[in-house]
This record gives sequence, C-alpha cells and structure tokens, in this order.
Amino acid sequence: MLHSSQISKLTRLKQLFLGFCSIFLVLAFAGLATANEPAKPTAAAPSVAPAAAPTAAVSAPAAAPVLVPKALKADATVGEALYNNGDTSRGVVACITCHGPKGMSAVATWPKLAAQHGTYLAKQLKNYKDGTRANAIMMGMVAALTEQDMLNLAAFLVKQAPPQGEVQNKASIELGQLIYRGGIAAKGIPACSACHSPNGAGIPAQYPRLGGQWAEYNATQLAYFRDGTRKNVQMNMIAVKLSDLEMKAVTDYMAGLH
Ligand code: HEC
Ligand code: HEC
Repeated sequence: MLHSSQISKLTRLKQLFLGFCSIFLVLAFAGLATANEPAKPTAAAPSVAPAAAPTAAVSAPAAAPVLVPKALKADATVGEALYNNGDTSRGVVACITCHGPKGMSAVATWPKLAAQHGTYLAKQLKNYKDGTRANAIMMGMVAALTEQDMLNLAAFLVKQAPPQGEVQNKASIELGQLIYRGGIAAKGIPACSACHSPNGAGIPAQYPRLGGQWAEYNATQLAYFRDGTRKNVQMNMIAVKLSDLEMKAVTDYMAGLH
C-alpha cells in the first residue's frame, strides 16, 4: 500500500545507500593500498631507523626512575652472545662487526673496547641513547639496547685482555709524555695520568682506560670534547686548552701505554 511518492523516496534512499557503500569501498581499497607500501620497509629494517628518534625521546625521562630501584644483574655470557651475534629480531647489529673479536678492533675508525671499565662502557652506551654523546653510527646501534643489554655487554668486554699498542710518533714522544705525566702548567692543563693513571689503565669507574687505544680515535674524541660534540665537564675544560699539535702528541704517546 505504498504511494508512488513514498516509493520514489525509498528508491532515492536506496541509491544514496549504494552510493555511500561504493565510497566506503573505494576508501577501504585506498587504505589497503597505502597500508601496503610502508609495510615493506618496516619488515626489512625493523627497529633501527624508525625506533631511533622516538626511543631516545621517550626513554630519556623514564630512564632515571627505572634505574634506581631495580638492581639489574649483569651476565657476561649473555653479553658475549649479543656482542658476537647481535639480535636480528630486535634489530641489534653484532658489535663484533666493527669492534672486532673480544673488543679488539682492526682499524682506528672503530675504538678498541677490550678491558675498558664496565661502568664507563655502560655509561657511554646510555650517553649515545640519550644523545649526550652525539654520534650517528652508535646512536643507531644502541637504539634497541635495553639497560640490561648494556650491562651484559659491558660485563663481557671488561673481562677481555687489554689492548697493546705502539707509540705512533717517535719525534713527538717527549712532548706527549710530558703532557701525559705532568700536564702543561702554564696553560692550566692537568696531567692526564692524574685521572687516567700513569700506565693508561684508567681508574674505575669514572676514568676510562686510554692505553693501547688507536691514536686517531682518541685524537678525534679530544676534538669532540673541545667543540662540545661530546659532553663531559672535566674533559671539555681540558680539551679547550689543548692545541691540535698537543692533542696529536699526547694521543700518539698514549697508543703505546700499557
Ligand atoms: C658499524 C660499526 C659499529 C658497530 C656495529 C658498533 N659500533 Fe660501537 N662504535 C663505532 C664507532 C664509529 C664508534 C666511535 C663513535 C664516536 O666517535 O663517539 C663507536 C664507539 C663505541 C663505544 C665508545 C667507546 C669508548 O671508548 O668510549 C662503545 C662503548 C661502543 N661503540 C659499543 C658498541 C656495542 C656494544 C655495539 C654492539 C651493540 C657496537 N658498539 C656496535 C662503530 C660501531
Ligand atoms: C680530572 C680528571 C681527568 C683528567 C685530568 C683527564 N681526563 Fe680524560 N677523561 C676524564 C673522564 C671523566 C672521561 C670520561 C668522559 C665520559 O664519561 O664521557 C675522560 C675521557 C677521555 C677520553 C675519551 C676516551 C674514550 O675511550 O673515548 C680521552 C681521549 C681522554 N679522556 C684524554 C685525556 C687526556 C689526553 C688528558 C690529559 C691532557 C686527560 N684526558 C685528562 C677525566 C679526566
């Protein structure tokens, strides 16, 4: 018993409904199409690149309260496995690729980590993660590391045999030794040995081992302390007073310390 006007109203409603349906279908397909595109890179490179920025931003404020109450126990065996193999499921690259077997890297671009103090190592990894130590390569490497990973890795590395190197430059050995052992009083530069110990072994937990490290790596770090790329109050104050020549002489000398 429908009137013709009611029927035409219903027909219009039906057309409207179908119209909406088709729009939804188009939108749904568009959604699927765009969702497919980013899915590929996400699968290929899981957490390294995309996780880097948000992780650093999010974990910085959270790090302090988490650190204090929980006493994490370091496991050197677990650290060794992570160092040698990485963990592809979490996007952790094997450290051995650059830092070499047992922390003995083969080239000066990558620092030797063998026998470096555990607390210092863990602090550096945290510094890369929170950006205090700005280095594009290492910031990517630590993005997926947890506090526990850092402690495990440090516990493995500190147990390795210390590196043995050679003095790099016979001509500047005297100047290098003078700076290392006595500083330069006239410029207000303290003796490096006061904090890093006379034989370059460092003093746990704050003062890193410098002896036997690649001279080029240490010289680069001094330049980073000088220009503020790497932040540490004590080293920033010392490095601003060192000339390029003095940096080179002292790091060439330290390479042979053991
Ligand atoms: C692609 C090469 C590469 C890989 C892989 C790599 N690193 Fe590094 N690492 C570097 C470079 C380059 C530096 C020096 C960066 C700088 O100047 O701050 C460095 C510096 C460090 C330092 C600071 C050393 C010091 O004496 O202060 C630590 C600690 C470290 N890496 C640990 C690790 C750990 C742990 C892993 C594995 C999870 C790892 N790295 C993987 C290249 C790499
Ligand atoms: C008052 C103490 C103190 C003195 C003196 C000192 N250092 Fe340091 N040095 C430190 C501390 C602390 C660190 C670790 C900074 C950090 O945690 O990032 C450091 C780190 C370094 C590093 C980086 C090592 C690495 O593995 O990346 C180099 C290189 C260095 N010092 C060279 C020197 C030289 C050369 C001198 C002498 C001219 C010197 N230091 C004197 C306290 C000192």
